[in-house]
Amino acid sequence: MEVLIMQPAFGEISVSDFFYRHRELAGFSNPSRATYMVIREAVENSLDACEEAGILPNIKVSLSYTGDELCHLRVEDNGPGVPPSEVPFAFGKFLYGSKFGVRQSRGVFGLGITMALLYSQVTSGRPARIIVSNGGDIFEVKLRIDIEKNMPLVEGKKRLANMEEWHGSIVELYFKGDYPRAEKRIMEYFKLTSIASPHAEIAFTDPAGDQHLFRRSVEKAPKQPVETLPHPHGVDAEMLRRLLKRSEGKSLLSFMVKSFQRVGYATARKFLESAGFSPHQPTSTLTNDDVLELLDAMRKYSFPPPDARCLSPIGEDALRDAIMRIFEPEFVAVCERPPSVYLGHPFIVEVAVAYGCKGIEGEIVLYRFANRVPLIYDAHSDVSMNVLRRFNWGSYLHVRPQATAVFTHICSTRIPFKTAGKECIADPPEVEREIELALKECCRRLKTHLTGRVSVEERGRRFNAYKKYLPKIAQFASELAGRKNAPNVSLILERILEGKN
Ligand SMILES: Nc1ncnc2c1ncn2[C@@H]1O[C@H](COP(=O)(O)OP(=O)(O)O)[C@@H](O)[C@H]1O
Ligand SMILES: [Mg+2]
Repeated sequence: MEVLIMQPAFGEISVSDFFYRHRELAGFSNPSRATYMVIREAVENSLDACEEAGILPNIKVSLSYTGDELCHLRVEDNGPGVPPSEVPFAFGKFLYGSKFGVRQSRGVFGLGITMALLYSQVTSGRPARIIVSNGGDIFEVKLRIDIEKNMPLVEGKKRLANMEEWHGSIVELYFKGDYPRAEKRIMEYFKLTSIASPHAEIAFTDPAGDQHLFRRSVEKAPKQPVETLPHPHGVDAEMLRRLLKRSEGKSLLSFMVKSFQRVGYATARKFLESAGFSPHQPTSTLTNDDVLELLDAMRKYSFPPPDARCLSPIGEDALRDAIMRIFEPEFVAVCERPPSVYLGHPFIVEVAVAYGCKGIEGEIVLYRFANRVPLIYDAHSDVSMNVLRRFNWGSYLHVRPQATAVFTHICSTRIPFKTAGKECIADPPEVEREIELALKECCRRLKTHLTGRVSVEERGRRFNAYKKYLPKIAQFASELAGRKNAPNVSLILERILEGKN
């Protein structure tokens, strides 16, 4: 008799259901970390929105307890708001957002604030309240998520008159939190955010009612990164297929020029001819094999490097000023590397080494940033930590520096995050190399500073010794020589002081 083996039943879950089951992948692994994540996701969106609209961000964050473990968070910004028809989707649907273009932004997945809403809903059972305005009427939406379907559920809508021409967004959530355990990290997050976004002002009211104001130190919004086309080295087979489909039968020549950055007509013609394609061939006639062949040829061809105008580094001066203000070090060396590229994605690395910082006990502390966001958790397996671990301080400084802070900032159109929680960066060799080069450059500058300081100290010591003994030697020598008056030594002392001796 035939024996059939029992087979499992099959099913499908939505993306929201996936994150409901695996919320630790998005960083919501326990109440303390979730408290930090909820704040971070809301603040990050406020900063992105304000910058995109060219507005200097004023962000008000307040956190309070309404029960033993139940927290209430309110985050208000002065950004452009969200169109009322988009509010349910932007806040209540996973993988829905406005940041999928090729340009640097803090958000990337269309996931952050929706994950915060999901966590809020499953731990408090209450809807979120979102209030938005672009300066016209104010719209208020009470929102839940249909987690099984990945769809927003609007529970109530209000339209209110806007007497004061207020614009911005307010997000209010209840969730199971643990502020006491998260406090240190949250305060560090705010402090470091004001280094990476020195043009932002953030006021935080903690559960005890204490106000913490993180003032802006730069009165100008950073230059808005420009949205660009993909680089030919930054596409894969799927992306190439999509671009070809969108090109609606153009010639290959015009497809290459219009779909990719850094490809002009001359480059496109040379490339196509070298790859064995006719520049006039319509894209609609390409077979599957042709597409793969084109992709392979694109990877091998040496196109000019990607355009870095889509990136927004902090800048050496702004970084130095912010570090000086917050850490009050004896000396800071800052290095911004020229744009580089990994897998076709442009990136810029900035590194600062601050020596003799106030408030740092012990040797070296690493502070990491990605697209102007401080990374607080999961440092152990981050690319910057790997570089720092193997870094040979001895070859620059003879001793390991004390009370020193190392800052690394990577900005890119695609940060290689290891998880959806966006706290830990993977280590493509190109990124690793740039961090190392920048760190070396900072160390060289620090070495010059320290050597200079040693020689000034040494000169001071020598001067004091000469000042003490030279008059006595002069007098003793004159007595020995039978002279009446000892020579004047002040000229010699002056020369020693000037370092000419
Ligand atoms: N404070 C805000 N101001 C303006 N737009 C916002 C704000 N918060 C969220 N949004 C919109 O909601 C979208 C989804 O946010 P989010 O889930 O955090 O994903 P992401 O930030 O990765 O795009 C954003 O892309 C943005 O368009
Ligand atoms: Mg976001």
